[in-house]
Amino acid sequence: MAQSLTGKVALVTGAGRGIGRETALALAKEGVNVGLIARTEASLKEVAAEVETLGVQAAYAAVDVSSPEQVEKAVVNLTDKLGTFDILINNAGIMKKGSFLEMDPEDWKQTIDVNLMGVYHVTRNVLPQLIEKQGGDIINISSMSGLKGTAGSTAYSASKFGLLGMSEALMQEVRPHNIRVFAMTPSMVATELTGKGDSTEEEKQKFMQPEDIAEYMIAQLKLHPRIFIKTSAQWATNPF
Ligand SMILES: NC(=O)c1ccc[n+]([C@@H]2O[C@H](COP(=O)([O-])OP(=O)(O)OC[C@H]3O[C@@H](n4cnc5c(N)ncnc54)[C@H](OP(=O)(O)O)[C@@H]3O)[C@@H](O)[C@H]2O)c1
Repeated sequence: MAQSLTGKVALVTGAGRGIGRETALALAKEGVNVGLIARTEASLKEVAAEVETLGVQAAYAAVDVSSPEQVEKAVVNLTDKLGTFDILINNAGIMKKGSFLEMDPEDWKQTIDVNLMGVYHVTRNVLPQLIEKQGGDIINISSMSGLKGTAGSTAYSASKFGLLGMSEALMQEVRPHNIRVFAMTPSMVATELTGKGDSTEEEKQKFMQPEDIAEYMIAQLKLHPRIFIKTSAQWATNPF
């Protein structure tokens, strides 16, 4: 039988817009108290207010997930406000395009620092709470680019392939603690990251919407704790 999420506490990174924002709201609708992380305070404030209108608690920290110091402080601060976490959604990510030789090495490094090291820093600070509870869920948002390389996307693909490898290895380590690690590999979702954030109604039929991904995450989290979906790919039904 599916489990209820009511009363649980979740941390969502990249919660200021796109998939992270919709996930925070979807969790709130299930009665989950939500901690929000992104760099832009103004957007976090708005999402926190929306979350609270759904009758649960919200708290946010405007930090860069690529900074271990900022992440450590944020997790302590959010835990003080909301209690220890049951669910971690590692969603914050950036995508910079450019050919291997032309891409600025700093952009290449930043992509790895945010998309891969960022997940490492956040997970490193939250995981001890889940181990202490002997249960909990981590969802890592990789990408179709974590399964398949495409020209102009070496840094993004490297970060997302890496994230899948890290997720699999972490899953093997923490499963004995009754912790589930889900890795997701969505294809195109209409957000600012893909330049499809302001979709027309016609485009909405072609691309997945962030709320579709959020609903999928909720369904995964509601599964009985004895089962989990290790990796799953989400595809638009009508991409052409
Ligand atoms: N959209 C797609 O088609 C698609 C497909 C597959 C996978 N994904 C993955 O899904 C995740 C979310 O993507 P999205 O499309 O929702 O992107 P988005 O609309 O650009 O939102 C990204 C979120 O991450 C935050 N963020 C970015 N860099 C950060 C950092 N260094 N520290 C903390 N927060 C940071 C952003 O806020 P600030 O800028 O304020 O920090 C924002 O809230 C990403 O990991 C992406 O790679 C997306």
